[in-house]
Amino acid sequence: MSDYKILIGDCLESLSREKISEAVDLTFLDPPFNQGKDYSFHNDNLSSEEYWNMMKEVCQKTFNITSNGGAIYFMQREKNTEDVLRCLRETGWTFQNLIIWKKKTSAVPVSSKYGKQYQIIAYAAKGEKARVFNRLRISPPLPPNYKFQRENGLYVTDVWDDIRELTSGYFAGDEALRNKDGARFHKQQAPLALLLRIILSSSKVGDAVLDPFAGTGTTLVAARQLNRNSVGIEIDPKNAEMIRSRLEEIRDADNIEKYYQDYIHTENLSKIWGVKSAPANVKKKMKQSAFAG
Ligand SMILES: C[S@@+](CC[C@H](N)C(=O)[O-])C[C@H]1O[C@@H](n2cnc3c(N)ncnc32)[C@H](O)[C@@H]1O
Repeated sequence: MSDYKILIGDCLESLSREKISEAVDLTFLDPPFNQGKDYSFHNDNLSSEEYWNMMKEVCQKTFNITSNGGAIYFMQREKNTEDVLRCLRETGWTFQNLIIWKKKTSAVPVSSKYGKQYQIIAYAAKGEKARVFNRLRISPPLPPNYKFQRENGLYVTDVWDDIRELTSGYFAGDEALRNKDGARFHKQQAPLALLLRIILSSSKVGDAVLDPFAGTGTTLVAARQLNRNSVGIEIDPKNAEMIRSRLEEIRDADNIEKYYQDYIHTENLSKIWGVKSAPANVKKKMKQSAFAG
């Protein structure tokens, strides 16, 4: 069984070998975006210089505790792409891909610009290239003019348009954690499918996954079910408490088994996933389609 650790406090103080205790193999960075949002324990209205100095320090400290060949995924708004790439480069990381996470919804456009419909995720490695990269295959729906089903799916590319964001209010569905009054517990909760893809692509069973801005702990929830060790750092004790309860009892909405089928064309999937064989519901489907065929 994998281990997890939740550290409550400022990640700048916790990102050290003593506090994290093992070398990190993969990091997901989803910081507050400094856009004046209402965080209880964080000033989201820093000057641009202060904010990017802080992010640079996070990238540097993360680099220092990462194993050679380890990876980082840094998520941000597309307008900050230049700063993200600079932060990573200046702290020793080697750029690998700029992933476009295309949302299902878009922002209302301002009068002089196109409406925004994606977020960037910069993927970089410690060293020339990453030590682990599992080439996942997915099977997106066929475009309307395609006649034949693809037999083996397609490799995942750097445009991810098949993962739905947890949009505001009730549209966020069951996955969004909610307060008693039905309001969302944390407006920046990331979808589990996003972390599942990152962890499956860039780590193996037993690796250590780090999230310095853990929020509701989506990274730890995915890592735990994939038999990877994880460390989450979160400054707000209420969020940290939520991470703990989310991990103690995995909710149906957080169960990753339902995504196994999406990656079924991936070579060695059960090994990458950290299970002996496909989940029962997937096996049943496979049997049925073999029977139908
Ligand atoms: C964008 S949210 C992360 C959401 C997360 N990916 C999830 O799925 O829930 C950023 C989180 O960072 C936390 N935070 C802000 N400043 C921090 C700091 N200096 N150290 C640790 N956590 C911090 C905030 O409280 C917030 O929960």
